[in-house]
Amino acid sequence: MLESSLEFLRCVRCGTKLELNAFKLNKEIEEGILECKKCSLKFPIIEKIPILWSAFSEYLSSRKKLGGELYQLIQNQKLKKFLKSSLSKINPVDDRTALEIRWSTIYDNSRNSKFYSFVKDNVDTLPKSNLVLEHGCSIGIVTSSLADSNKMVFGIDRSFSALRTAKKSYKNNLDYFVADSLSSIFGKLQFDLILALNILELIEPLELLKHISKQISSGHFVISEPYDFDRGTNSVRKPLDEYTLRTTLKNFGFKITTKTKKPSYIPWTLKLNPRATLNYKVDLIIGKK
Ligand SMILES: C[S@@+](CC[C@H](N)C(=O)[O-])C[C@H]1O[C@@H](n2cnc3c(N)ncnc32)[C@H](O)[C@@H]1O
Ligand SMILES: [Zn+2]
Repeated sequence: MLESSLEFLRCVRCGTKLELNAFKLNKEIEEGILECKKCSLKFPIIEKIPILWSAFSEYLSSRKKLGGELYQLIQNQKLKKFLKSSLSKINPVDDRTALEIRWSTIYDNSRNSKFYSFVKDNVDTLPKSNLVLEHGCSIGIVTSSLADSNKMVFGIDRSFSALRTAKKSYKNNLDYFVADSLSSIFGKLQFDLILALNILELIEPLELLKHISKQISSGHFVISEPYDFDRGTNSVRKPLDEYTLRTTLKNFGFKITTKTKKPSYIPWTLKLNPRATLNYKVDLIIGKK
């Protein structure tokens, strides 16, 4: 975590500014604990990545394997103790560790999909921004490129594994946080540009759009969607299609740019393994407030 990110972060439970206890510093904070002095919540920073989950033991409950691996890696004794105590409180459910590693590898192997350069080219036509946020950024393919032309760029994702890959490239105006997109890790901070690429199947669409709408009072919102909502028991409750998504954005006060008024079909190719690819046709919408 960049030391400069501290001023932007807030406690996910009570909105108070966080205090930083840095244990291992290099160019950035490699190990540390962020603490809310008001409600005593603690958030670990492990391998340069802050995990801003309302309860760390809950985060580890579905990532027990990851917890064990991190325990071996951590050098600072206070942080090790915190992890050990969090691990002792977990209530193990289906472990997501392997799944999250698998998808990080798939995104890493799919960096060259034309979809990403298409998004970058479109974002480059927008005014330069002071504060940018990408929700569900995964390994940071787009996030990292945004840092080349905007002032400060943040990416959030619930996958520690994905952010580990994202953190391999260092830029002094780019930082990533493990967090739930629906939580308020930045309090009431307003962004000039927000991106949400291909995440509506995983995060309840209306809740996410409402949350993002509150994070932009004046700026742009770039959203793409393959509308692949059929996920069995994991499906979101209220899926949207290309028309209801546009109407919902308008209802939240966004004006849709002329060139994204009509649904589009941009190829997004994910290389699952050397013999299989997943080919989506994605819709891209740019909204402005
Ligand atoms: C289908 S992938 C898309 C990744 C990337 N945006 C792209 O287009 O290449 C969805 C991403 O959203 C993340 N995600 C899912 N639910 C989330 C949540 N509630 N909060 C934050 N990230 C979430 C996943 O970990 C995953 O990296
Ligand atoms: Zn608090």
